[in-house]
Amino acid sequence: MCGIVGYIGDEQAAPILLDGLSRLEYRGYDSAGMAVYDGQKINVVKSKGRLKILNELTHGGETLPGMLGIGHTRWATHGEPSDTNAHPHYNSDESIVVVHNGIIENYLKLKKKLEAHGYEFRSETDTEVIAQLLDFYYKGNPLQAITKIMHRMEGSYALGIIFKDHPDELYAVRKDSPLIVGHAKTGNIIASDVPAILRYTRDVYFIENEEIVRMTKDTMEFFNVDEEPIEKTSTRIEWDVNAAEKGGYEHFMLKEMYEQPKAITDTFSPRIKDGKIVIEELGMTDEEIRAIKKIMIVACGSAYHTGMTSKYIYEGLARIPVEVDLASEFRYRNPILEEGTLVIIISQSGETADSLAALREAKKRGARVLGIVNVVGSSIAREADNVMYTWAGPEIAVATTKAYSAQLIAQYLLAMKFAYVRGKLDDAGLASMLDDLRELPSQVEMLLNNKEKIQKFANRYLAAREVFFIGRGIDYAISMEGSLKLKEISYIHSEAYAAGELKHGTISLIEDGTLVTAVLTQPDLYKKMISNIVEVKTRGAFVLAVTNTGNTEVEKTADYVIYIPETNRYFTNSLAIIPLQLFGYYVSIGKGCDVDKPRNLAKSVTVE
Ligand code: F6R
Repeated sequence: MCGIVGYIGDEQAAPILLDGLSRLEYRGYDSAGMAVYDGQKINVVKSKGRLKILNELTHGGETLPGMLGIGHTRWATHGEPSDTNAHPHYNSDESIVVVHNGIIENYLKLKKKLEAHGYEFRSETDTEVIAQLLDFYYKGNPLQAITKIMHRMEGSYALGIIFKDHPDELYAVRKDSPLIVGHAKTGNIIASDVPAILRYTRDVYFIENEEIVRMTKDTMEFFNVDEEPIEKTSTRIEWDVNAAEKGGYEHFMLKEMYEQPKAITDTFSPRIKDGKIVIEELGMTDEEIRAIKKIMIVACGSAYHTGMTSKYIYEGLARIPVEVDLASEFRYRNPILEEGTLVIIISQSGETADSLAALREAKKRGARVLGIVNVVGSSIAREADNVMYTWAGPEIAVATTKAYSAQLIAQYLLAMKFAYVRGKLDDAGLASMLDDLRELPSQVEMLLNNKEKIQKFANRYLAAREVFFIGRGIDYAISMEGSLKLKEISYIHSEAYAAGELKHGTISLIEDGTLVTAVLTQPDLYKKMISNIVEVKTRGAFVLAVTNTGNTEVEKTADYVIYIPETNRYFTNSLAIIPLQLFGYYVSIGKGCDVDKPRNLAKSVTVE
């Protein structure tokens, strides 16, 4: 995600900002910028691309003199990565400057209101709206203006703010986006994350939701949203810098697994308004949605697996026929794309060569293309007719977890929307599904917190030669992802099979002790799955079952059972995948593999 650093003190601010930002680079970003007050005006330098460019543009900070400044690395959300959209953002007369992490959900409404008052905007960002909104409310008292905008803004934010009229003060505020402040030897510093601050101090204050900080070079005061002063105590950070970059987690993969509840919430919550699903970026009228004759989902790897899951949902719920294809196959197979076909390309990076080529092929053949993409402004996002972003934030571990989970959510939303518009889902049905959707983040968290149980189980399988994953329907799609997670990071051969297909060959591979993971989340298929479990057990398999809470019947057949909480039958993938991700992770680290960077793999596959 984005990074924030701010400094006020006796030293030149820019080199400190550059250093702090460099410590946040691991989080991923697409542009960077700084604003420094030079005694007369606030100067801003910002640029698309790496921090190196900002460093060169400012000669390591030398050309931006001043002892009060804020800096930012941006991971694009509103508006593509560009010099203009990079932070900091000014108000119109450049007297207020802001850096921002998070998303202002009602920014379009606020922007319209400001435009009606004659405000003009230079960028496409929600952050510029914050700067202009501050301007609107600013009557000489920064604290008052900040609390006023806090009452107006919906969404999440961590902000660093400078007011030219108050050149001895630096302001910061947060809601649902982390922010810390600390006393350095030569002044005070703010940052969005611990690594940026550790070189200067280990004693930090964690800013809580809706708290505001006013800092001078020597003082630090905290206020609540009613402008009342509050007391805070500092915390001593004992982590080393490496651990801090991973937020205290041992690996990025584990950190990202733990970020799944947030990725899920961030992906669905801005799209549910007054109990209805609103996906403005879809750009389709209800009439166009009703006219869809077929959906063709095209993707690679895990993204393809989310397509496999959603096929069952689009078909079961919205009754739209779906074909799912691997991008590397689709692009060369002369696909038939009749009128009324909606092509959906799914990609975390938005740069996967095969998926991009498939997108171009589909467009060439006249199809309407929707991208479901995580990286804003990436090639697939730019070239698709419409793009629906997954708000998972930057993913660093090669094996995807949180982007996968966010892709599932995006497709649940689309399937529900399509079903509702086409009259296949009524108000009560939609309301009940949305209730279940809102439960998913806490249910995922609960499963993650049960990790020790999976770790113990995983440790028994470090020497396994091969593992099978079986399931039917959606559970087959989950099995495909569970199998990929295990094999790509632990180098244990594994295969996913549609359970009914076992008898047609695969079952001959089962021998004494072979681990078979059976996924059973679809009640109408329980009995069939239990028969399949019996079949492999008869051949000596050890069976790990992942099933719904209450399905205790499976304990009679399987050797080890993991229960997932109750949810809508179409959402079970979001829960059942968690123990399978954890299993892959613990087998990998138990074997001493490089779990974040498995051999021969790259995070973004930009070549064919
Ligand atoms: C597996 C994994 C890959 C990607 C695939 C597509 O853990 O991450 O299988 O899902 O390479 O990548 P994107 O989504 O960037 O197109």
